[in-house]
Amino acid sequence: PLTHTKDLFAKALKGKYALGAFNVNNMELLQAIIEACEEEKAPVMLQISKGARQYANPVYLKKLIEAAVSLSNIPIAVHLDHGDSFELCKECIDEGFTSVMIDASHDPFEKNVETCRKVVEYAHKHNCVVEGELGMLVGAQHDDGEEGGAYSKGGAYTHPEEAVQFVKQSGVDSLAVAIGNSHGAYKFKGEQHLDLERLKAIKKALMDAGLGDYPLVLHGASSVPKDLVTEINKYGGKMGEETAGVPEADIEIARRVGCTKVNIDTDLRLAMTAAIRKAFFENPKEFDPRKYMGPARTKVKDLVRHKVRNVLCCAGH
Ligand code: G3H
Ligand code: 13P
Ligand code: ZN
Repeated sequence: PLTHTKDLFAKALKGKYALGAFNVNNMELLQAIIEACEEEKAPVMLQISKGARQYANPVYLKKLIEAAVSLSNIPIAVHLDHGDSFELCKECIDEGFTSVMIDASHDPFEKNVETCRKVVEYAHKHNCVVEGELGMLVGAQHDDGEEGGAYSKGGAYTHPEEAVQFVKQSGVDSLAVAIGNSHGAYKFKGEQHLDLERLKAIKKALMDAGLGDYPLVLHGASSVPKDLVTEINKYGGKMGEETAGVPEADIEIARRVGCTKVNIDTDLRLAMTAAIRKAFFENPKEFDPRKYMGPARTKVKDLVRHKVRNVLCCAGH
């Protein structure tokens, strides 16, 4: 059933597991995610970006998700990923999304607060919850926090005390953090990694400020599996040598520290691309889309099963 994001969050916080928030752009991705979660009995968040709405058309997405909801038994929440304006958030709230993200993280603190505040006011009146973001997802940088020292306020990373002020002033229901994470398949160079100590400090600061077990969100949580990159390149792809994702062991730590929502898109894209390239390479005479979209859907499904069972630990909930 369609389930409110706040109910999924409450259960996940209590059960100490993370929810997978998987991006949906077309029918095969949606079917793969839903079938995997159904088989693993995992609650799931389907997230739709502005780009997904432009690609697939909001009505198609809405109807596809309605089909997924009616054909499955798992709790499903529907979330706007990286909303970039009040108007887009309002559209999604009016369409019945159970949560929206307003991403004004590129703006100065005060402006970010003000934009979030406006979305929160509308959302809360209409039974919807809001994810905000503080800090910028520019990837791993040299930052005081990486050394475990005093946390700098000027950089792109989320500062624990600022996170407290941000949550209090904006009223957002969950917070996306910047701890060296970034989108895509090229996240780190050399020894770079997530600043998990900073994540702990953010969680603790929120707890100490009386905000309780506050839900944090990890964007850019794809692990960019080497075998998928190798397969893509084996069958004619040209992904660079320097692909790098978040090690699954780090996602597990993030989950234990208290990341309640973990965003995964790139890994689904890689799985889909690897399977399609392989099918094209092995069956060059084939031109029935079902013969390559079918294997692509299966490959995405296997990946999602692995994530929910072994990494996010939300299977069986
Ligand atoms: O934030 C990035 C997500 O992977 C969504 O990507 O904006 O290309 O749909 P997109
Ligand atoms: P990845 O690019 O690591 O999959 O991150 C997805 C994401 O954060 C969507 O908001
Ligand atoms: Zn993101």
